Amino acid sequence: MSVVKQLVKLEFRELRSSDMKMVIDLYNSLSNESIYYRFRGFFKDFERYVKSVFSDPRNIVYGAFLNNELVGVLETVYLSDGCYEMAIVVKDDYQGRGIGTRLVAYAINDLKRRGAKTLVAYTTPDNYRILAISKKFHGIIKCMYSECTTVFNLQSVDAGQSLN
Ligand SMILES: CC(C)(COP(=O)(O)OP(=O)(O)OC[C@H]1O[C@@H](n2cnc3c(N)ncnc32)[C@H](O)[C@@H]1OP(=O)(O)O)[C@@H](O)C(=O)NCCC(=O)NCCS
Repeated sequence: MSVVKQLVKLEFRELRSSDMKMVIDLYNSLSNESIYYRFRGFFKDFERYVKSVFSDPRNIVYGAFLNNELVGVLETVYLSDGCYEMAIVVKDDYQGRGIGTRLVAYAINDLKRRGAKTLVAYTTPDNYRILAISKKFHGIIKCMYSECTTVFNLQSVDAGQSLN
């Protein structure tokens, strides 16, 4: 990790319903490219999407903060007992600085602590950043046509080193 990346001081925490506006604002600030990679299409109804994520108490949403500004959001949507689907985005101006890696590490650590076993993520084959992060955490990646599926076996991943 570069010196610049190490200097980025980040804080992480679980986000609550009271943080919803902040999350909607973050989505509204994204470039078309980030929206495309995040949603695998040109999605725009962020308010309804964010509300639906927070409406199920089994879903867990994590935030990365830089000087109290929300700069990254990672949602884990409950699929079945011990199994979640992950999606992540980092604000455009902050991408490529190690924030996504550390947010994934934070989420994996927290999910493990809660006893979760499996995390699944979907992306496109040209999303090099999320694929690079997935490899760091030993995700099993299968790509077919325009979609890649990554499965993380949480019990065998040690995300501790990527947190700092
Ligand atoms: C994907 C995303 C969350 C990653 O967060 P980030 O903070 O930008 O990523 P990081 O800086 O932690 O790590 C990116 C890694 O990708 C690697 N990478 C970047 N471009 C690459 C390329 N062309 N080929 C291979 N690896 C590449 C970087 O080298 C880095 O790894 P390193 O730390 O070992 O050097 C962020 O870029 C984003 O929000 N993108 C738009 C939304 C999205 O794609 N979401 C994921 C699908 S749900």
